[in-house]
Amino acid sequence: MGQSHFHESARAQVAGAAHYIDDLPEVKGTLYAAPILSTVAHGTLNGVDASAALALPGVRGVVLAQDVPGDKLLAAFAHDEPVFAHTTVQHIGQVIGLVVADSVMQARRAVRAVKLDITPLPAVLTVQDALQAQSYVLPPVFVRRGDAATGLAQSAHRLQGAFEVGGQEHFYLEGQIAYALPLEQKQWWIYSSTQHPGEVQHWVAHALGIDNHAVKVECRRLGGGFGGKETQAGHLAVWAAVAANKLGRPVKLRLDRDEDFMVTGKRHPFAYEYDVGFDDTGRITGLKLQMAANCGFSADLSGPVADRAVFHADNAYYLSDVEIASYRCKTNTQSHTAFRGFGGPQGVIVIETILGDIARALGRDAQDVRLANLYGRDASEGRNVTHYQMAVEDNILHELLPQLEQTARYRQRQAEIAAWNAQSPVLKRGIAITPVKFGISFTATLFNQAGALVHVYTDGSVQVNHGGTEMGQGLHTKVAQIVADELGVPLHRVLVTASDTSKVPNASATAASSGTDLNGRAAQYAARNVRDNLASFVCGLDGCGAGAIRFVGGQVISPKTVRSFDAVVKEAYANRIQLWSDGFYRTPKIHYDKATLTGRPFYYFSYGAACSEVVIDTLTGESRVLKVDILHDVGHSINPAIDVGQIEGGFVQGMGWLTTEQLVWNDKGYLSTHAPSTYKIPATGDIPEHFKVALWPEANREDNVGGSKAVGEPPFMLAISVYEALRNAIAAGRSGEAPAKPVVLTAPATAENVLRALGRLS
Ligand code: MTE
Ligand code: MOS
Repeated sequence: MGQSHFHESARAQVAGAAHYIDDLPEVKGTLYAAPILSTVAHGTLNGVDASAALALPGVRGVVLAQDVPGDKLLAAFAHDEPVFAHTTVQHIGQVIGLVVADSVMQARRAVRAVKLDITPLPAVLTVQDALQAQSYVLPPVFVRRGDAATGLAQSAHRLQGAFEVGGQEHFYLEGQIAYALPLEQKQWWIYSSTQHPGEVQHWVAHALGIDNHAVKVECRRLGGGFGGKETQAGHLAVWAAVAANKLGRPVKLRLDRDEDFMVTGKRHPFAYEYDVGFDDTGRITGLKLQMAANCGFSADLSGPVADRAVFHADNAYYLSDVEIASYRCKTNTQSHTAFRGFGGPQGVIVIETILGDIARALGRDAQDVRLANLYGRDASEGRNVTHYQMAVEDNILHELLPQLEQTARYRQRQAEIAAWNAQSPVLKRGIAITPVKFGISFTATLFNQAGALVHVYTDGSVQVNHGGTEMGQGLHTKVAQIVADELGVPLHRVLVTASDTSKVPNASATAASSGTDLNGRAAQYAARNVRDNLASFVCGLDGCGAGAIRFVGGQVISPKTVRSFDAVVKEAYANRIQLWSDGFYRTPKIHYDKATLTGRPFYYFSYGAACSEVVIDTLTGESRVLKVDILHDVGHSINPAIDVGQIEGGFVQGMGWLTTEQLVWNDKGYLSTHAPSTYKIPATGDIPEHFKVALWPEANREDNVGGSKAVGEPPFMLAISVYEALRNAIAAGRSGEAPAKPVVLTAPATAENVLRALGRLS
C-alpha cells in the first residue's frame, strides 16, 4: 500500500486488449436488439404496429410490455417505472419495446418501420412548471435548524437570489450494454456493464418472475460508469433478458450513442432560490434555501440524490439558522440518476454561489468570507454541528485552505489580476478558491456493507473476488494491493477477477466513492483469515506464538525459520489447512433517520480545495481555464498515481459540467443535444496548461483501510472554483456598477450564458 502501481488493466486498455462486453466471444445463435423509442413527451399509447418491421429481412421478433413474464414494473425501489411503456409514454426516448434481429443493423433498421399510435397529453417540461403544478416524483423534504426567519430579520445585511445549474450526460466511453444468455432449467447468465451486479440480478429475476438464485450477473470492467450505470444498466439487462426469454435465444442489446442520450437519465438539473442574512465580515446569520431538482419521469435515485444535495448545501460552512426546502420535481424527460457527487455538487454550488455573492456585496475578498464561515476546528467554538445534527470531528480546512492560498500565491495573483484587468478592456480574468467537504458513506446505512473472497492456490498465487466493480477508478488495483500487503506477497501474485453475483452475493453498488473503503476492508479481512491460518500452522512447526510470524516480501518469517510463502502454502495444503476465506465489513458509527434527515449519515469527510484562474472574452462570452492548483485530502493514499488521476479526472469532469456540457430540450421535450456533435465534454485542449495536484499528508482520523480516504467523487466539486472564478471575471467585465450587483450565471457557463451574465444578451 502507498505505492503508485499501474492500474491493473492499464496496459491492456492502452493496447486495446482489455475486454468489454461487446468484445466477448458470442454464443452461437445470439440475436441483437434495438429499442423502439417514444416520439412524444407525454401521451396515451394506443398501439404499436410492428407488421412492417417484422417483414424486414433478419427480423426475428418484436418484444413489448405484454411479453414481460413477471412484474411489468421494474423492481426499482419506488416501483414507479414500467419495464416497457404500455398504456402511457412519459418522455421522448422512453423504451416501448425492442426489435430483435440477426444483426444489430437489421434490428435498428427495422425499428424505423415500427408505427406508434400515441395521443399526446400535456407535458411538464421544466422544473418551474413542475413546481407550479406540484408535480413531484417523491414528496418534498424540509430540513431546519435554529430559526431562519429570526436570523434573517436580525441580520445586518441581506441578499436574495435565484439561479439554475444544468444536468450532465455521463458520456462513459462504453455505452450501456447487456448480453442475456438463457441457460438450462430457467437459469440465466447476464453480462452487464453495471456498477451494481446484485441489483441487475434482482431486477432480471423480478421481471422474469424467477428467484434471484437463478440469475448470475458478471462484469469484468465497465468503460466508465460515473453513476450512469448504477441503476440504469439494469434496464438494459431486463430488456435483453425479456427478449431472450421470449425468443429462447441469447440476446445482446447495445445502445448507440444517440439512443443512450435519449433513453438514459443524466445528472439532475437544479433550480435554486435563496434569502441569506450576514454580518459585516460576511458570516451567514440566517438562510432560507429552496432547491428544486428536475428528476425526470420517475423516482429512480432522485430521493437519495436530492437528500445528498441537502446534506451538502452547507459544504464546509456552519449554518446556524437555516431552513431548506427540497423539491423532487417530476417532468416528462429522461429519469435523472446518479452522477459523480450524487447531488453533492448541486448542494455545494449553491452555498459557494451565496458566499461569492456576499463577498461581492460587501466588497470583501471571497477567500476571507469563506474562512469566516468555516466549521470550527472542534466542538469548542460551538460551530461544528451540521444542519443535520452530525458533529464535524475531522475538519482540516483551517490548515488546508491557508496552505493552498500560499502555494497558489492567491493574494498576490488577486492583485496582479486586478491590475491586468484594469488595462485589458475586452479580456477579463478571475480567480477563486473553493473548498470541498464531502461526506463518505451511502446515506442509506444498509448499503454500507461488503464481502470478499480470497483464494490462495497451491502454487501460492492469490485470487480475490469482491462485491465492487471496476469502472476505471482503480478499485481492483487498490484491493489487490491491500491483499498483497496483508499476505506479504508481490502484487503480481494477486489477481482480482470479474465481479460476479455467484461469488459474493448481495453486494452494494460501487458508488458513493466507498468502493475501496468497503471492499478493500472486506478483502483485507478475508486475506487476514488465510494469513492467520498459515501463521498458526507455522507456529505449530516452529513452536512459537502466532504473533511472532511475519509475512513480508513473499516470505513467511518465524523467529526460527524463513520460508517462502509458496513453500508454506504447499505444506499447509498437505496438512489440510484452509487456504481460502471470505471477509465481511460493515462501516461502524453510522446511523440516520430518513424522515428527518438527521443523524450521522457519514463515517468521515473527505476534504480538498482548488484555486482556479480563468479568462473570459467579454465580446464573445468565450472562456478558458488558465491555471488550477489543487490540494486534496485522500488520507494515506493506497495508490498516489491512481488518486491523482481521480482528482484530475474528477476536476475536469466537473469543469465540463459547469462550462461546456449543455443539455438542451426543445419545447416538445426532445433532447436536441444527443451526440458529441452538439454536446461538448472537455477535451485535452481544455485542460489548463498549469494543472497542479498535491495530496494532503495526514491519515484518515477514522479507522479506515490503510488510513486512506475515498477519492472518487469529492474532487468533482473542486471545479466549482472555476464557476466562481468565472463569476469574478464577469464582475470585472461589468465594473463601474455600484454597488456590485450579484452575478447571475446559469451553469454551464457557455458563451451565451456568460454574455447573459455580463448583461450583453437577454
Ligand atoms: N473513475 C473512472 N475512471 N470511471 C468512473 O466511472 N466513477 C466515479 C468515480 N471515479 C468513475 C470514476 C464515481 S461516480 C464513483 S461513485 C466512484 O468512482 C466509484 O468508485 P470507488 O467507490 O471505487 O471510488
Ligand atoms: Mo457514483 S455517482 O456514487 O456512482
